[in-house]
Amino acid sequence: MKNPFYYGGVVSEEYFCNRKQEIKELKKDILNGINLLIYAPRRFGKTSLVMHTLNQLKEEKGLKFVFVDLMGISSKEEFINEYFNAVAQSLEEPIDKVINFFKKVLKFKPTIKAVVDEYGQTKFYLEFTPEKTIETLEEVLDLPFIYAKKGRKICVVFDEFQEIETLDIENKLRAKIQHHSNLLSYLFMGSKKSILKKMFHDKSRAFYKSVKHFQIKEISEKEWIKFIKDRFKKTGKEIDTEFIKNIISITKGFPYYTQQFAYELWEITEKKVKEEDFIKALNLIMQREEDLFAVEWDNLTANQKKTLKLIIEKDGKHLYDEKLLAKYELKVGSLRKTLQILMEKDIIDKIDDRYYIQDPLFEYWLRKKIYR
Ligand SMILES: Nc1ncnc2c1ncn2[C@@H]1O[C@H](COP(=O)(O)OP(=O)(O)OP(=O)(O)O)[C@@H](O)[C@H]1O
Ligand SMILES: [Mg+2]
Repeated sequence: MKNPFYYGGVVSEEYFCNRKQEIKELKKDILNGINLLIYAPRRFGKTSLVMHTLNQLKEEKGLKFVFVDLMGISSKEEFINEYFNAVAQSLEEPIDKVINFFKKVLKFKPTIKAVVDEYGQTKFYLEFTPEKTIETLEEVLDLPFIYAKKGRKICVVFDEFQEIETLDIENKLRAKIQHHSNLLSYLFMGSKKSILKKMFHDKSRAFYKSVKHFQIKEISEKEWIKFIKDRFKKTGKEIDTEFIKNIISITKGFPYYTQQFAYELWEITEKKVKEEDFIKALNLIMQREEDLFAVEWDNLTANQKKTLKLIIEKDGKHLYDEKLLAKYELKVGSLRKTLQILMEKDIIDKIDDRYYIQDPLFEYWLRKKIYR
C-alpha cells in the first residue's frame, strides 16, 4: 500500500487538504484582474495553493497562466529568459508553432531558440546582445498583455519574487504592469516577508501599495483531523483523533510538518496508531531536523538566543518584564533592537502584540532545550 501522505515539493490534487476559502477568494481576484501579494513562511503551501487554483481556473474558465519561478535568478538576462520561457510554455503548442508565433509578435527580431533538456522538457530562450537588454525586457514583459488584449484571461505569477530585488528592474517592471491594468492579474509570491514588506510597503519603492495583500493561514485542526483520519481509513489503518490533535499541537497546522508527521506515523503504524508509534515518529522527525536547528541556533548572537528564550518563556507577550530582563541580563534597548533583527531574519514574527517563532518545530526543539 502506498503512503497516502506526501511532503517535499508542490502537492498535487491527490494530496491537497482543503484551503477552500482561499481558493474561492483567489479565483475571484484573479478573474477580476487584481494584483496580489502572497507571503508566508517557507514550506507553508504557497506554491501548492496557487498552482491548484490556477489549474482549476484553467479548466473552468480557460485561463492561461504564466508561472515564473525566480529562485536562483541573478541577472537581467536570466530574468528575461525565465520569463520568456514561462510565456512560451503557457502557449502549450508544438515548438515550431511557438517559435513562429514569437517571430510574428516580437518587433526587435531576436534569435529564438529551443532546447530539450535531460527530462524531455523544452526550454525556450532568446539570444540578444547586451545593448538590447532593456529593449528586450520591455518587449518580453508585454507579451502576456498581447494575449490579454485578445480577450483571454491571463494570470502572471512570480514565485520567490524577492529575488528580483538585486536585478535593478523593479521600476521597469512596475511601469509595465501599471499599463496592463486589470486586463490581467499579477501574483507576487515569496517567503522572505521582511524583503517583500519593504518592496510593497515602502513609499520610496516602485511597488508601493500596488497590490492586495492576500493572506494564507495554517490549515485548521478540524480540516487536518478529517484529512488524516480519512487517509488512514482508506489505506486500511486507523488513528484516534487525540493523536492528530497532538500532531497539530506540535506542528501548529504547518502543512509541510503536518504531512511529514502523518507520513512517518503511517509508515510506522501497523494497524492502529499506538502511543509508542507516535513517539517513534516524533523522535524520527526531530532527529532529522535537529542538525539544521543546531546550526541555526549556533548562528545566533547571545542576545538573539536570550530573546528567543524570553519569547518562549513569556509566550511572546509582555516581553519587557523587568525580572526576566534582569535574569537574562538584557537591556530594554537591546531587546527592542534584537526583536527587530530577528523579524528581519524571518525567525520570528508578530501577530497583534504577540511575538512567535515562525518555525513550529524549531520552537518545539527550543522549548525542550530550555525546559528539559
Ligand atoms: N493544501 C495542502 N494540503 C496538504 N499538504 C500541503 C498543502 N499545501 C502544502 N502542503 C505540504 O507542504 C509542503 C510544501 O508545500 P509548497 O511547496 O506548496 O510550499 P511553499 O510555501 O511554496 O514552500 P517554499 O517556501 O519551499 O517554496 C508540501 O510538500 C506538502 O507536504
Ligand atoms: Mg514555493
